[in-house]
Amino acid sequence: MRITLVSLLSLILSNWIYLSVHISCQCLEDQKSLLLQFKNNLKLNLESSKKLNFWNQRVDCCQWGGVTCDKEGHVIGLDLSSESISGGFENSSSLFSLQNLQILNLSANNFNSVIPFGFNKLEKLTFLNLSYSGFRGQIPIEISQLTRLVTLDISSLTYLTGQELKLENPNLRKFVQNLTNIKQLFLDGVSIKAHGKEWSNVLLLLPNLQELSMSHCNLLGPLDSSLARHRNLSVIRLNQNNLSSAVPETFANFKNLTTLSLDYCGLMGTFPEKIFQVRTLSVIDISYNTDLFGLFPDFPLNGSLRSLIVSNTNFSGAFPNSIGNMMQLSKLDLSNCKFNGTLPSSLSNLAELSYLDLSSNGFTGSIPSLGLGRKLTHIDLSHNDLSGAIPSSSHFDGLQNLLSIDLGYNSFKGSVPSSLFILPSMQVPIIYQALYQHPSSG
Ligand SMILES: *[C@@H]1O[C@H](CO)[C@@H](O)[C@H](O)[C@H]1NC(C)=O
Ligand SMILES: *[C@@H]1O[C@H](CO)[C@@H](O)[C@H](O)[C@H]1NC(C)=O
Ligand SMILES: *[C@@H]1O[C@H](CO)[C@@H](O)[C@H](O)[C@H]1NC(C)=O
Ligand SMILES: *[C@@H]1O[C@H](CO)[C@@H](O)[C@H](O)[C@H]1NC(C)=O
Ligand SMILES: *[C@@H]1O[C@H](CO)[C@@H](O)[C@H](O)[C@H]1NC(C)=O
Ligand SMILES: *[C@@H]1O[C@H](CO)[C@@H](O)[C@H](O)[C@H]1NC(C)=O
Ligand SMILES: *[C@@H]1O[C@H](CO)[C@@H](O)[C@H](O)[C@H]1NC(C)=O
Ligand SMILES: *[C@@H]1O[C@H](CO)[C@@H](O)[C@H](O)[C@H]1NC(C)=O
Ligand SMILES: *[C@@H]1O[C@H](CO)[C@@H](O)[C@H](O)[C@H]1NC(C)=O
Ligand SMILES: *[C@@H]1O[C@H](CO)[C@@H](O)[C@H](O)[C@H]1NC(C)=O
Repeated sequence: MRITLVSLLSLILSNWIYLSVHISCQCLEDQKSLLLQFKNNLKLNLESSKKLNFWNQRVDCCQWGGVTCDKEGHVIGLDLSSESISGGFENSSSLFSLQNLQILNLSANNFNSVIPFGFNKLEKLTFLNLSYSGFRGQIPIEISQLTRLVTLDISSLTYLTGQELKLENPNLRKFVQNLTNIKQLFLDGVSIKAHGKEWSNVLLLLPNLQELSMSHCNLLGPLDSSLARHRNLSVIRLNQNNLSSAVPETFANFKNLTTLSLDYCGLMGTFPEKIFQVRTLSVIDISYNTDLFGLFPDFPLNGSLRSLIVSNTNFSGAFPNSIGNMMQLSKLDLSNCKFNGTLPSSLSNLAELSYLDLSSNGFTGSIPSLGLGRKLTHIDLSHNDLSGAIPSSSHFDGLQNLLSIDLGYNSFKGSVPSSLFILPSMQVPIIYQALYQHPSSG
């Protein structure tokens, strides 16, 4: 390797910046003692702690794992996610005296308590992540006074144990009305219990909202027309709410939409075809809406789809060859719908494809070459009406990563080529389903 003058200079410069940042960042004594008090009150398993366990009183606290300081030595960031904390964070916590905090991440712990009251003292917070930390009960109103918040994540899985986190009193409206700087609002698993018109209108109070995640929130439908005004949304996750609603076509006008997750929503009516033509969309999941009818339109050129999941719906009709335009497609699941016709030959162009499930439809014809699918790990074409000879391994050439393939319950003729069993992946554990014949083909 040749060291050029430029790279040498930039090396010196970056070291100098590194040193000067760390020299100027001497922890203030009061900040250090607040941090230590906070730590000493926590219940935690020190063995599984990657940060707290190594907070050493003799070392500048700005150097401690998870701690970030500003130039004056105030603690402005604290990241103690996944530290196996199991309690000891309460109303009187000294954490609430670290009043310069801008970023606080306590996610993925197990506090197993209500959220303490005191967050209103952390006026400068812009980022707060309390998700998956075992908090339950009503979310305190104090958090709604943090008007500088840009990101708030209080997602929870405690409903699984019957001790859900709730936004009932204060309700969603009261809770968000002053959070006008919010761009990312993640409330997955929090019981909100609001009707379609109510929660959609509340969200209009948040002019900067870009990412909305409210799956499993006991939300009711319908998907209200006022949602059309949230044109800036890039992420919409409302899955696992009983919306019993049609999907508004206006989602197709959202210029920045990348994720639309509406699985298990009791959706009805016809899914607007135009939504599949939104070029920015990367994830569409509308699975498990058994009353949702739909047809695929032609997919646009240069689309960004990585994940297309339509399984367990009442989608039908042909699977257009233009799916080959989705060069980034990695997961494709159309299982258990009513698609028919032949499989698009363009599937062979999808070099990023890793998960392919087209099972339990009415597909006919032969299996297209999947020759480019070097990343494929999972192929399920079972329970269709595919015919012809079962292709030999040359058809599947290059499937180095295949872990599972199921071609059962089709109308293939002839025997299983033994060459299929010497795919390279046979060297790793593989679940190879029997290639049973379709009942009708005898
Ligand atoms: C924390 O403060 C709230 C509101 O002031 C109060 O209802 C609650 O009982 C306090 N919790 C504890 C553990 O003291
Ligand atoms: C916690 O949040 C901070 C702030 O965004 C982030 O930098 C950090 O990666 C997060 N920690 C983990 C473990 O996700
Ligand atoms: C919050 O933390 C969880 C768990 O560490 C993480 O999965 C999630 O992405 C974080 N949320 C945000 C908005 O960064
Ligand atoms: C929101 O801000 C207004 C004006 O500052 C204030 O009167 C109101 O109490 C705040 N609402 C909540 C829920 O904090
Ligand atoms: C969308 O974002 C732009 C720029 O950030 C902002 O001016 C506009 O008001 C927002 N529109 C809506 C409907 O929130
Ligand atoms: C879309 O995102 C870009 C980049 O993040 C941003 O500049 C633009 O304002 C956004 N447009 C809308 C309509 O939100
Ligand atoms: C969903 O909501 C509809 C109408 O509000 C209701 O009829 C239906 O029973 C609900 N389904 C479930 C699974 O709760
Ligand atoms: C599914 O769509 C067909 C039309 O193809 C319709 O006749 C049928 O009623 C739909 N089934 C359900 C459960 O909506
Ligand atoms: C697709 O991308 C190619 C190359 O980046 C570009 O030349 C072409 O104009 C794009 N097509 C559309 C419809 O955007
Ligand atoms: C697919 O099913 C539809 C409706 O059941 C039918 O009209 C159409 O002819 C079928 N197409 C093929 C290629 O079998």
